Amino acid sequence: MTDTKLFQDVVRARHSVRAFLPTVVPDALIREVLVDAQHAPSNCNAQPWVIHIVSGARRDAISKAILAADDAGRITPDFPFATSNFCDAYRERTAAQGKAYYEAIGVAREDFDERRTASQLNLSFFGAPHIALLFMPVVGENEVRVAGDLGMYGQTFLLSLTAHGLGGIPQTMLGFYADTIREELGIDPSFKMLFGISFGYPDPNSAANSYRIEKVAIEESVTFHS
Ligand SMILES: Cc1cc2nc3c(=O)[nH]c(=O)nc-3n(C[C@H](O)[C@H](O)[C@H](O)COP(=O)(O)O)c2cc1C
Repeated sequence: MTDTKLFQDVVRARHSVRAFLPTVVPDALIREVLVDAQHAPSNCNAQPWVIHIVSGARRDAISKAILAADDAGRITPDFPFATSNFCDAYRERTAAQGKAYYEAIGVAREDFDERRTASQLNLSFFGAPHIALLFMPVVGENEVRVAGDLGMYGQTFLLSLTAHGLGGIPQTMLGFYADTIREELGIDPSFKMLFGISFGYPDPNSAANSYRIEKVAIEESVTFHS
């Protein structure tokens, strides 16, 4: 197998995992993934990611706290996000993703209660034993660029998980409870939460992991100039 083939295999094998085994990932393995992710590029090499890895009793406490925050309507995102802001092809793709997921897990589109229950699985990390929470410092007008750097970090982290036989899912939804999470972990409010990544060993038998979402052809995303 050439290195190219190896890269292509890892990049195509990565997908968002929405059901995990409870098996704890050894510390040494988590550290290997973190060292890989640290190789992500960033604007001027600022490496502006501030990562909190949460496992065990703290993980359970955070899940409990954000579920309670959700019940109380305490939604405190550092950065706004509304799928309704997507239009045209982007809107169609987000709708197709929701449809594919709910079909895979057998939830009817019109069943609001079932959909809410399924969405709440985000807050128990889809059963993952570990979460990585991605924070960034306050950087004024560099915010969008630093958020891009965190995206680079996140994808490197996710690819490393895949290469190590693990899986993960990036979750903007965890950032909706930024205040609660900061309070639980004693994180200074000057650090803003962009998203979290739940990770662990994928449950191979779960319907939630049985589908793969289609990627559009490069012609839809790329314009060639010469
Ligand atoms: C930054 C980011 C945040 C995301 N947030 C969520 C989330 O909160 N909940 C969720 O179920 N999926 C979330 N996703 C997963 C996307 O739905 C998923 O990446 C997309 O459908 C493509 O599927 P794939 O990851 O399997 O290729 C997020 C993805 C990214 C990149």
